[in-house]
Amino acid sequence: MSVPQTAPSDPQVDQQRSKSVRKWVLLIALVTFFAGLLFGYDQGVIAGALKGIGNSFDVGVGAKQIITSWVTLGALLAALVAGMSADHFGRRPVLLTAGLLFIAGAIIQSISSGVEILVVGRLITGFGIGFASVIAPLYAAEMAPRRIRGRIVSTYQLAITFGIFLAYLVSDLMNSTQWRTMFLLAAIPGVLLIIGVMLVPESSRWFVKMGRKDKARASLAKVTEPADVDKELADVEAQVAAESAEGEATWAEVFSPRVRKALIVGVGLAIFQQITGINAIIYYANTIFESAGLVSTKSQTMATLYCVGLTNVLATFVAVAYIDRFGRRPLLFMGLVGMFFSLCAVALGFATQSPADTGAGTSIVGIITMVGLVVFIASFAFSLGPVVWTIISEIYPGRVRGKAVSFATAANWGAAFLVAEFFLTLTNGIGESATFFLFAAMCILGFIFVWRYVPETRGRSLEEIQQMWDKGGSIAEWDETAPRP
Ligand code: BGC
Repeated sequence: MSVPQTAPSDPQVDQQRSKSVRKWVLLIALVTFFAGLLFGYDQGVIAGALKGIGNSFDVGVGAKQIITSWVTLGALLAALVAGMSADHFGRRPVLLTAGLLFIAGAIIQSISSGVEILVVGRLITGFGIGFASVIAPLYAAEMAPRRIRGRIVSTYQLAITFGIFLAYLVSDLMNSTQWRTMFLLAAIPGVLLIIGVMLVPESSRWFVKMGRKDKARASLAKVTEPADVDKELADVEAQVAAESAEGEATWAEVFSPRVRKALIVGVGLAIFQQITGINAIIYYANTIFESAGLVSTKSQTMATLYCVGLTNVLATFVAVAYIDRFGRRPLLFMGLVGMFFSLCAVALGFATQSPADTGAGTSIVGIITMVGLVVFIASFAFSLGPVVWTIISEIYPGRVRGKAVSFATAANWGAAFLVAEFFLTLTNGIGESATFFLFAAMCILGFIFVWRYVPETRGRSLEEIQQMWDKGGSIAEWDETAPRP
């Protein structure tokens, strides 16, 4: 094995190196943050912009739904090709493309002269988000030191929630007639992402895959303590060598028995993240606050801004702080329990509320509903929100990682699209109460799914996680007693 490049004898030099490692890790976290910011801002801005768009273009519900949902469609399509592109061209070029597409989409939306152009802008924005949502967590997982990998990847979720909050804030501060400005402001996270990506190194894992060992070492050295560089590089090389002995991964391999268990874990988590109702709640918050007795539109938007938007951001910090300390599974369990009970509370609130109560002032039932909503958002934000993206980015064998992450992310967008499409149909058909009970039932299924299938990945290198799958991938076989850093 090769000898360490530098003797770690001079404490001053070591201190300098550690400082430089921290600087690079921070930059990588920032790139991840900007990618999430762009995702979240778009998620939140449409709620505020829709009314103004409706007035400017005189469009009906159908067109409004297309304007809203085609971002999801664009994201789904881009997510499917993002992994392949990142394997071929590298992670940075794809992230740069995501930033450019997002800026183009924002500009087109802001100057659109009609619905058709606006929808084209939405679709292009969706492509940008789709690329970013696959590659940013993947890049972060590949570059982050394993000790804090969960924390760095969950920065992505923190940024999504921050983006949603900023968008709610912008909508609150602006008049809906200023929807063009709201869209144009979305270009800012795109610009920040591009600047960030230009500063960070390409993924060391990707360089190794391309046979560019020197570049891989240089990239790894930026984010690894000097004494560990050789060991980390050897680990990555061994893994990549084992993977590339079998040639380029095909889609068939992503669905092969070897990868299937990991694929089911990622796709299952991606779907549970959506079918437990997060986005229905995010979009429906105003109406729920109305039922809870907040009469004026202003008080509803303020409640949405702080109870949903701010709670979402603050509770995500809990995950960022504890994901590498408590582990992924405990956070998922606690979150799903909290989501279950709070959804039941919201459902009961609706069940016991008569139509005459709506807007009649705050009642006990209304308060329970409101508290239920806040607890739901908080529970999601410290669990399913960040943990799902983290696990998806770390559980796949390197050879198929790009494609498999793409597939799981596309499944997430597909489920988000379906929930958005069918939520109103469901509430009209079976009523709000039954719909929320249905989401609660999904939390129980989600709990069983996590308990049965999702392994704890805290403190494991991506290579160790790979070995776990190779040994059979059952949670029972996963050596929980092995030392963790
Ligand atoms: C989900 C989004 C959701 C957001 C809410 C993300 O993890 O993927 O669909 O809107 O969390 O904070």
